[in-house]
Amino acid sequence: MTPAIELHKLCKSFGDVEALQNVDLTVQEGEFIALIGPSGCGKTTLLRHVLSLEEATSGEITVGGEHPEKVRRSNKLGIVFQRAALVPSRTSLENVQMTLDITGVKTPLSPEGLLDQFDLSEFKGHYPHQLSGGMQQRVNIAAAMVHNPPYLMMDEPFGALDEMTREFMCEFMGEVLLENPKTTILVTHSIDEAVMLADRIVILAPRPGRISTIVNVDFPRPRRREIKTQSAFADKVLEVRKLLYAVEAA
Ligand SMILES: Nc1ncnc2c1ncn2[C@@H]1O[C@H](COP(=O)(O)OP(=O)(O)OP(=O)(O)O)[C@@H](O)[C@H]1O
Ligand SMILES: [Mg+2]
Repeated sequence: MTPAIELHKLCKSFGDVEALQNVDLTVQEGEFIALIGPSGCGKTTLLRHVLSLEEATSGEITVGGEHPEKVRRSNKLGIVFQRAALVPSRTSLENVQMTLDITGVKTPLSPEGLLDQFDLSEFKGHYPHQLSGGMQQRVNIAAAMVHNPPYLMMDEPFGALDEMTREFMCEFMGEVLLENPKTTILVTHSIDEAVMLADRIVILAPRPGRISTIVNVDFPRPRRREIKTQSAFADKVLEVRKLLYAVEAA
């Protein structure tokens, strides 16, 4: 196992608010981490440190052994936020291709192939306003992945989508990552989503924000949504829910 992202005693305060306190976490290469915890516990703040959008008060963070800013500047990070960030005057395909123009990477994935994989074959020539919210977010994720970054950071990417679309998105993501493995951190409020996708679920506790528990998820891949009908899946969701409630009650 090769460590890919390492947080060492990461602390971040905003004035009196201790957003992160002594966060130690090693994410292995190709590993999928889901970050879960009550609102305001520091999930976005943690992700923003990995993206070098926030400077730590103290502690260290490295991505592939390097400073996160260097990694971001070399286009090795894929970023997806809750709302799709598409250019309205460009088609789905053009929006995805735009990432390649910006990054200029030599070994991209195929934009067409990625849109096919996300079930958007018939919508490559459509403009964002002609797409549903779920479709827009699929284009958004394709745009974040097309330059094939080794690291993928996602902050509630499916948060604005309905339950059914979310389930499909989880399947699509799982499939795409099986073919193109990446070290991924997903911030989510959905325990189902975390169990569907993650190798490990990191539960954060609030005030101060710190790691409470880490839960392993060992289900084989690919994980199809039918897995949700199995009792082992329900047991894992229950285990995480109980831990989360305990954190909220503390
Ligand atoms: N730029 C900032 N200035 C001041 N305080 C901030 C800033 N960013 C975050 N905080 C505070 O840090 C704490 C953690 O915020 P963060 O956005 O990381 O939470 P979160 O876990 O992502 O919450 P949510 O689930 O609601 O998105 C909160 O108390 C928030 O008010
Ligand atoms: Mg957040």
